[in-house]
Amino acid sequence: MRIVVTRRVPEAAMVVLREAGEVWVSGEDRPLSPDELREAVRGADAVVCMLHDRVDGAVADAAGPQLKVVANVAVGYDNIDMPALAERGVTVTNTPGVLTDATADLAFGLLLAVTRRIGEGERLLRSRTPWSFHLGFMLGSGLQGKTLGIVGLGQIGQAMAHRARAFGMRIVYSGRSRAKPEVESALHAEHLSFLELLRTADVVSLHCPLTPETRHLIDAEALGAMKHSAFLINTTRGPVVDEAALADALLRREIAGAGLDVFEKEPEVEPRLLEMDNVVVTPHLGSATVETRTEMALLAARNVAAVLAGDGAVNEVRPDGDRS
Ligand code: GLV
Ligand code: GLV
Repeated sequence: MRIVVTRRVPEAAMVVLREAGEVWVSGEDRPLSPDELREAVRGADAVVCMLHDRVDGAVADAAGPQLKVVANVAVGYDNIDMPALAERGVTVTNTPGVLTDATADLAFGLLLAVTRRIGEGERLLRSRTPWSFHLGFMLGSGLQGKTLGIVGLGQIGQAMAHRARAFGMRIVYSGRSRAKPEVESALHAEHLSFLELLRTADVVSLHCPLTPETRHLIDAEALGAMKHSAFLINTTRGPVVDEAALADALLRREIAGAGLDVFEKEPEVEPRLLEMDNVVVTPHLGSATVETRTEMALLAARNVAAVLAGDGAVNEVRPDGDRS
């Protein structure tokens, strides 16, 4: 069995993969180009890929009809053309669960950083600008009693809600479907329409997957519906936000600030956002802990091993795609 890995993975996962077949790993310190990817997958029975690899019918065809499984080392799988792979009988797997807490931690970190001006304060000190403590100095916004609006109350959205509850925030959420009553009551979470959520929330945090329905969900109109004092947090996928519209809204002070871990055209970032003091940016670090990245790679490797052994995948993504 030939297993193609598009970018280095932790050794623990390599051990599992080597037991399952002949492993080829890209040695590049960058994503493979589309041409390189098609070339690399030739003859593969399994492909372990990253969220920056676009895996479509052309990639599956380049691999050949023996391709059995594509294991995405990510919970999101918007980089994979699900119908094209389903048509070719290829199993697709993702890595839900193991990155829930790490991603919610990062989202909450961005929330604190932007509301308490942590990045701005750090930049001030590093610029050696003189300063002194006074009662009006660099005031941020408190969280106690404020409303967190969670867009998409899946596993990560719920983990974010738990953190916010500990900070005394009220939780409202919107989403494609209503959460289970026990989830709502455990979080004291109130379901609102998307528009009501935008109008109500002091912080809007995005936890929905990227789908055709959620692309540019946060556009000029949505930003216009938010409170002028509200903050936006994005740790899901860049294209859920119209980044140019966000920069416009921030410049016009239509919202108070943003904490962003993901971008529309990664690794590019809308340049205007980088000039603004009320924007905190991190380079797609949601799941970036030693523990979580190891677990993600292991899960992907176990999915490959299971499918190649003829057993069912551990985390198969269904073509109509419910992300758990
Ligand atoms: C990371 O962004 C993931 O989807 O796992
Ligand atoms: C602030 O630093 C305080 O001591 O209140």
